[in-house]
Parts: sequence; C-alpha cells; structure tokens
Amino acid sequence: MHKIVRKEQLNPEICLVEAEAKDIALAAEAGQFVILRIDETGERFPLTLYDWDTEKGTVTVVCQAVGVSTKKLCAMAEGEAILDIAGPLGHAAKTKNIGKVICIGGGVGTAEAYPIAKAMQASGNDVTVIIGSRSKDLLICEEDIKKFCDKVHITTDDGSYGKKGFVTDVLKELLEDGSYDLVFAIGPVIMMKMVSGMTKKYSVKTLVSLNSIMIDGTGMCGGCRVRYDEKPHFACVDGPEFDGHLVDFDDLMHRGDRYKDKEKMADDHYEGECKIGLDKKK
Ligand SMILES: Cc1cc2nc3c(=O)[nH]c(=O)nc-3n(C[C@H](O)[C@H](O)[C@H](O)COP(=O)(O)OP(=O)(O)OC[C@H]3O[C@@H](n4cnc5c(N)ncnc54)[C@H](O)[C@@H]3O)c2cc1C
Ligand code: FES
Repeated sequence: MHKIVRKEQLNPEICLVEAEAKDIALAAEAGQFVILRIDETGERFPLTLYDWDTEKGTVTVVCQAVGVSTKKLCAMAEGEAILDIAGPLGHAAKTKNIGKVICIGGGVGTAEAYPIAKAMQASGNDVTVIIGSRSKDLLICEEDIKKFCDKVHITTDDGSYGKKGFVTDVLKELLEDGSYDLVFAIGPVIMMKMVSGMTKKYSVKTLVSLNSIMIDGTGMCGGCRVRYDEKPHFACVDGPEFDGHLVDFDDLMHRGDRYKDKEKMADDHYEGECKIGLDKKK
C-alpha cells in the first residue's frame, strides 16, 4: 500500500498526487513512468514520474482524469492509500552533453515534460521550455518550471494567457532565429506529430514520449505497440522515448481512437494482438 501524503488539484481536470514509494524514489530517473492500481478491482494504468524525493521516500505523479482509473485517483484524499505502484518503468531520458534543447509540453504532457526539462538543465544543457494549453485556467506546472528555467514560453489556444496559438507557433520562431541540438516534445499525439514534421524541415533531432495504451508495461501484452522506423516496437520497454522523425503518428492515432470506442474495439478484428479486457458487451 502506498499512502498519499499530498494531493493538490492543479486545474479542474488535473491533480497532483505524492505517495509513499521508497524503492521507486531511490531508482527513479527522468523520463520513466510507473503503473498504478488503485484497488483490488482496479485496472493498471501508467503515469509519468513527475518528481521523487529520496529522503522522504515518495514519488509524485500528475494525473488528468479522463476515465475510470484516473478519475478514481483524482478523487482520492491525503491519508488514503493506493494498492500498487510498480516501477520505475521504461528507459530514462539521456540528458548529458546535448547542448541547446527545446522542451515542449502540451496539456497534461507539460507534467511529463517537466522532469525531462529539469534533468536537461541539471546536466548543464541550455534549456528553453514551451508549454501550451487550451486556456489559462488549464495551464499547469508553470511555477515549477520557472524555478529552474528562465526561458519559458507559454501559449494558449484562446489567447487567455501567453501567446495566442499553438506551441508550434513559438517553436517555428525559435527555429528560425537560432540553432538547436534537440527538441523534446510531450503532449497529444497530434501535437507531437506537428512538432516532428516542423523540426524535420529544420533538421533538428526530435524526441517524443509516446502515451500509447499500456496494460502490463513489461513487453508481454502488445497493447502499447507502435510503428517505428517501419517496424513494430513496444512503447513500454523500447520507449517511452522515440525519435519523432521515425514514428508513424497516423498509426498511433488510429490505435488510440479504436480504444476510445469500446463497441468498435469489440467488433474490430485484431489479428495477432492481445484482446485482454476486450470482451464484447451487449
Ligand atoms: C508511458 C505513459 C505515461 C503517461 N503519463 C501520464 C501522466 O503523467 N499523466 C496523465 O494524466 N496521463 C498519463 N498517461 C495517460 C494515462 O495512462 C491514461 O490517461 C490512463 O491510462 C487512462 O486510464 P483510465 O482508466 O482513467 O481511462 P479509460 O477508462 O481506460 O479510458 C478513458 C479515456 O482515456 C483514453 N485513454 C486510455 N488510455 C490512454 C492513454 N494511454 N493515453 C491517452 N488516453 C488514454 C481512452 O482512449 C478513453 O478515451 C500516460 C500514458 C503512458 C503510456
Ligand atoms: S504494455 Fe504490454 S507490451 Fe507494452
């Protein structure tokens, strides 16, 4: 059991949860994630490690309430306990000797970009951060990012805060004005696709962190399969970080859409794929 020691509501949809998990805190590195199970009837779901404290023996996650399990987590209170937290999982981000880096976070992806940008800065790179949200009230992590980085650009779709528009508008300006060694983007698949398309034209290496559907997180079920460099890869064990110029984003979006429609999922024929939990409900 993992007792919740801090719970904050960052915006109406997104909460921050700090819970006891000493072994994970001791091993955690930026870019890794955990798989949680709230209670005995709960499903396993992945969240990025936002922060960790080796002295307190805690890990912090930031969670957008989109479905059953994420809503359950966001409804929990300090003092309650999460049944399982497994991790750290996935490869850590490589942050040494890179140079000039732009880290981009969109929506809840900002919370996933935060540990990467922080580690990039701690490794001595020159870091610029772009964060974007639909509107000011949905923006998260601005204060935490500004604690370690003084080059922070903010965009909102509706212009209620920062620059009106998308993160790619600021990215384009930065790429026109200067030379960069790496762009790291985390957010909605469409955002990562647009960023990767743009940086390809400027020949800037680009990494993305893929949030494909995960079940076991250990490479066994095939749920998180992505087409990468023309071949199947598993986001949980091969990633979650991939070269954005080699990811088949259209395939990734197509797979994500299928899981949104449970009837479609049950009707579809997934040749050679695991069907855990996909029983047709009439
Ligand atoms: C490596 C990794 C790291 C992640 N880190 C974070 C994080 O730090 N914070 C955060 O809020 N979310 C993160 N996610 C997404 C999170 O895992 C999903 O939102 C969660 O699994 C949804 O579970 P649920 O039971 O609440 O929703 P469900 O009831 O299963 O589904 C509800 C809705 O959420 C969508 N959904 C389900 N799984 C995913 C998914 N993997 N990605 C996007 N949408 C999904 C479904 O399509 C559906 O529309 C991460 C995903 C991965 C793979
Ligand atoms: S989550 Fe099962 S193979 Fe990756």
